[in-house]
Amino acid sequence: MKQKLKTALILGLGFFILLQFWRGPDIQVEAEPTENDFLLNAAQLETKTIQYLKAACYDCHSMNTKIPWYGYVSPPSRLVREHIKNGRHSTNFSDWGEMDLYSQIETLEVVIKEIAKEKMPLSSYLKWHPEARIEEEARQNVIADLKALLTNYQQTYQSKK
Ligand code: HEC
Repeated sequence: MKQKLKTALILGLGFFILLQFWRGPDIQVEAEPTENDFLLNAAQLETKTIQYLKAACYDCHSMNTKIPWYGYVSPPSRLVREHIKNGRHSTNFSDWGEMDLYSQIETLEVVIKEIAKEKMPLSSYLKWHPEARIEEEARQNVIADLKALLTNYQQTYQSKK
Protein backbone atom coordinates (compact mmCIF):
# COMPACT_ATOMS: atom_id res chain seq x y z
CA MET A 1 0.00 0.00 0.00
CA LYS A 2 2.75 2.43 1.02
CA GLN A 3 4.67 1.53 -2.10
CA LYS A 4 1.64 2.31 -4.27
CA LEU A 5 1.21 5.70 -2.64
CA LYS A 6 4.87 6.49 -3.21
CA THR A 7 4.60 5.53 -6.89
CA ALA A 8 1.47 7.65 -7.29
CA LEU A 9 3.20 10.64 -5.68
CA ILE A 10 6.26 10.32 -7.88
CA LEU A 11 4.11 9.95 -11.00
CA GLY A 12 2.04 12.96 -9.97
CA LEU A 13 5.13 15.04 -9.35
CA GLY A 14 6.63 13.92 -12.65
CA PHE A 15 3.45 14.88 -14.47
CA PHE A 16 3.43 18.30 -12.79
CA ILE A 17 7.06 18.93 -13.76
CA LEU A 18 6.32 17.83 -17.33
CA LEU A 19 3.34 20.22 -17.44
CA GLN A 20 5.70 23.13 -16.82
CA PHE A 21 6.91 22.76 -20.42
CA TRP A 22 3.44 23.92 -21.50
CA ARG A 23 2.98 27.16 -19.63
CA GLY A 24 1.03 28.79 -22.43
CA PRO A 25 2.02 31.45 -24.96
CA ASP A 26 5.14 33.59 -24.45
CA ILE A 27 4.16 37.00 -23.18
CA GLN A 28 6.45 39.93 -23.90
CA VAL A 29 6.29 42.64 -21.27
CA GLU A 30 7.46 46.24 -21.32
CA ALA A 31 8.05 47.88 -17.95
CA GLU A 32 7.07 51.41 -18.99
CA PRO A 33 4.46 52.77 -21.41
CA THR A 34 5.87 54.22 -24.64
CA GLU A 35 4.82 57.38 -26.50
CA ASN A 36 2.13 55.38 -28.35
CA ASP A 37 0.31 54.53 -25.13
CA PHE A 38 -3.39 55.45 -24.97
CA LEU A 39 -3.32 56.99 -21.50
CA LEU A 40 -0.30 59.16 -22.38
CA ASN A 41 -2.27 60.44 -25.38
CA ALA A 42 -5.52 61.11 -23.53
CA ALA A 43 -4.51 64.06 -21.37
CA GLN A 44 -8.10 65.17 -20.82
CA LEU A 45 -9.03 62.02 -18.87
CA GLU A 46 -9.43 62.35 -15.12
CA THR A 47 -6.68 60.85 -12.97
CA LYS A 48 -9.23 58.42 -11.52
CA THR A 49 -10.13 57.11 -14.97
CA ILE A 50 -6.47 56.65 -15.83
CA GLN A 51 -5.85 54.81 -12.57
CA TYR A 52 -8.89 52.61 -13.14
CA LEU A 53 -7.97 51.59 -16.70
CA LYS A 54 -4.42 50.85 -15.57
CA ALA A 55 -5.62 48.71 -12.68
CA ALA A 56 -8.50 46.95 -14.45
CA CYS A 57 -7.51 46.64 -18.13
CA TYR A 58 -3.78 47.11 -18.68
CA ASP A 59 -2.75 43.60 -17.62
CA CYS A 60 -4.53 42.15 -20.67
CA HIS A 61 -4.81 45.11 -23.04
CA SER A 62 -1.33 46.63 -23.01
CA MET A 63 2.32 45.61 -23.11
CA ASN A 64 2.71 46.72 -19.48
CA THR A 65 1.38 43.47 -18.06
CA LYS A 66 2.08 42.38 -14.51
CA ILE A 67 2.12 38.60 -14.73
CA PRO A 68 1.06 37.09 -11.36
CA TRP A 69 2.91 34.10 -9.86
CA TYR A 70 0.22 31.71 -11.13
CA GLY A 71 1.04 32.98 -14.59
CA TYR A 72 4.26 30.98 -14.29
CA VAL A 73 2.79 27.72 -12.99
CA SER A 74 0.99 25.38 -15.37
CA PRO A 75 -1.91 24.68 -15.68
CA PRO A 76 -3.32 28.08 -14.46
CA SER A 77 -0.62 29.91 -16.45
CA ARG A 78 -2.14 28.62 -19.67
CA LEU A 79 -5.43 30.42 -19.00
CA VAL A 80 -3.73 33.60 -17.77
CA ARG A 81 -1.47 33.75 -20.82
CA GLU A 82 -4.27 33.00 -23.28
CA HIS A 83 -6.27 35.87 -21.76
CA ILE A 84 -3.35 38.26 -22.16
CA LYS A 85 -2.63 37.09 -25.70
CA ASN A 86 -6.27 37.36 -26.82
CA GLY A 87 -6.86 40.57 -24.90
CA ARG A 88 -3.90 42.27 -26.59
CA HIS A 89 -4.97 40.88 -29.93
CA SER A 90 -8.43 42.45 -29.65
CA THR A 91 -7.37 45.79 -28.12
CA ASN A 92 -3.85 46.91 -27.27
CA PHE A 93 -3.71 50.30 -25.55
CA SER A 94 0.07 50.36 -26.09
CA ASP A 95 -0.49 50.67 -29.86
CA TRP A 96 -2.91 53.59 -29.64
CA GLY A 97 -0.61 56.10 -31.33
CA GLU A 98 -0.18 53.79 -34.32
CA MET A 99 -3.93 53.54 -34.97
CA ASP A 100 -5.75 55.92 -37.30
CA LEU A 101 -8.41 58.22 -35.88
CA TYR A 102 -11.26 56.09 -37.22
CA SER A 103 -9.97 52.92 -35.49
CA GLN A 104 -9.40 54.87 -32.29
CA ILE A 105 -13.04 56.00 -32.34
CA GLU A 106 -14.28 52.48 -33.03
CA THR A 107 -12.10 51.07 -30.24
CA LEU A 108 -13.21 53.70 -27.75
CA GLU A 109 -16.85 52.92 -28.54
CA VAL A 110 -16.35 49.22 -27.83
CA VAL A 111 -14.32 49.94 -24.69
CA ILE A 112 -17.16 52.08 -23.32
CA LYS A 113 -19.71 49.42 -24.22
CA GLU A 114 -17.73 46.65 -22.52
CA ILE A 115 -17.39 48.65 -19.30
CA ALA A 116 -21.04 49.76 -19.40
CA LYS A 117 -22.28 46.18 -19.85
CA GLU A 118 -19.87 44.98 -17.14
CA LYS A 119 -18.36 42.50 -19.58
CA MET A 120 -14.88 43.82 -18.87
CA PRO A 121 -12.76 43.26 -16.90
CA LEU A 122 -13.35 39.49 -17.09
CA SER A 123 -15.08 38.25 -13.93
CA SER A 124 -12.35 35.66 -13.36
CA TYR A 125 -9.84 38.54 -13.27
CA LEU A 126 -11.90 40.45 -10.71
CA LYS A 127 -11.87 37.47 -8.38
CA TRP A 128 -8.08 37.59 -8.19
CA HIS A 129 -7.62 41.37 -8.50
CA PRO A 130 -9.59 43.30 -5.86
CA GLU A 131 -7.82 46.51 -6.98
CA ALA A 132 -9.69 46.24 -10.30
CA ARG A 133 -13.10 46.39 -8.60
CA ILE A 134 -14.99 49.66 -8.62
CA GLU A 135 -18.08 51.19 -7.01
CA GLU A 136 -21.09 51.74 -9.23
CA GLU A 137 -20.87 55.53 -9.03
CA ALA A 138 -17.18 55.53 -9.89
CA ARG A 139 -17.86 53.21 -12.81
CA GLN A 140 -20.46 55.63 -14.18
CA ASN A 141 -17.87 58.42 -13.83
CA VAL A 142 -15.35 56.44 -15.84
CA ILE A 143 -17.96 55.86 -18.55
CA ALA A 144 -18.92 59.56 -18.68
CA ASP A 145 -15.26 60.57 -18.82
CA LEU A 146 -14.54 58.17 -21.69
CA LYS A 147 -17.67 59.34 -23.52
CA ALA A 148 -16.44 62.95 -23.32
CA LEU A 149 -13.14 61.84 -24.82
CA LEU A 150 -15.01 59.96 -27.55
CA THR A 151 -17.02 63.08 -28.41
CA ASN A 152 -13.75 64.98 -28.80
CA TYR A 153 -12.36 62.35 -31.15
CA GLN A 154 -15.61 62.38 -33.16
CA GLN A 155 -15.52 66.17 -33.48
CA THR A 156 -11.91 66.03 -34.68
CA TYR A 157 -12.93 63.38 -37.19
CA GLN A 158 -15.85 65.47 -38.48
CA SER A 159 -13.69 68.59 -38.85
CA LYS A 160 -11.12 66.64 -40.88
CA LYS A 161 -13.67 65.26 -43.34
C1 HEC B 1 -7.90 39.03 -17.65
C2 HEC B 1 -7.69 39.71 -18.87
C3 HEC B 1 -8.55 40.89 -19.25
C4 HEC B 1 -8.79 42.04 -18.54
C5 HEC B 1 -8.27 42.40 -17.18
C6 HEC B 1 -9.61 42.87 -19.39
N1 HEC B 1 -9.85 42.23 -20.57
FE1 HEC B 1 -10.85 42.98 -22.16
N2 HEC B 1 -10.61 41.21 -23.17
C7 HEC B 1 -9.93 40.13 -22.70
C8 HEC B 1 -10.02 39.05 -23.67
C9 HEC B 1 -9.41 37.67 -23.51
C10 HEC B 1 -10.77 39.54 -24.76
C11 HEC B 1 -11.12 38.85 -26.06
C12 HEC B 1 -12.10 37.78 -25.92
C13 HEC B 1 -13.41 38.24 -25.40
O1 HEC B 1 -14.08 39.08 -26.04
O2 HEC B 1 -13.83 37.71 -24.35
C14 HEC B 1 -11.13 40.90 -24.41
C15 HEC B 1 -11.87 41.74 -25.21
C16 HEC B 1 -12.04 43.08 -24.98
C17 HEC B 1 -12.60 44.02 -25.92
C18 HEC B 1 -13.10 43.70 -27.32
C19 HEC B 1 -14.52 43.23 -27.24
C20 HEC B 1 -15.14 43.03 -28.60
O3 HEC B 1 -16.31 42.61 -28.63
O4 HEC B 1 -14.48 43.27 -29.61
C21 HEC B 1 -12.62 45.23 -25.33
C22 HEC B 1 -13.08 46.54 -25.92
C23 HEC B 1 -12.08 45.05 -23.99
N3 HEC B 1 -11.75 43.74 -23.80
C24 HEC B 1 -11.95 46.07 -23.07
C25 HEC B 1 -11.50 45.89 -21.77
C26 HEC B 1 -11.51 46.94 -20.78
C27 HEC B 1 -11.99 48.37 -21.02
C28 HEC B 1 -11.02 46.41 -19.63
C29 HEC B 1 -10.89 47.06 -18.29
C30 HEC B 1 -12.05 47.71 -17.74
C31 HEC B 1 -10.66 45.02 -19.92
N4 HEC B 1 -11.01 44.74 -21.22
C32 HEC B 1 -10.07 44.14 -19.03
C33 HEC B 1 -9.23 40.05 -21.52
C34 HEC B 1 -9.23 41.01 -20.52
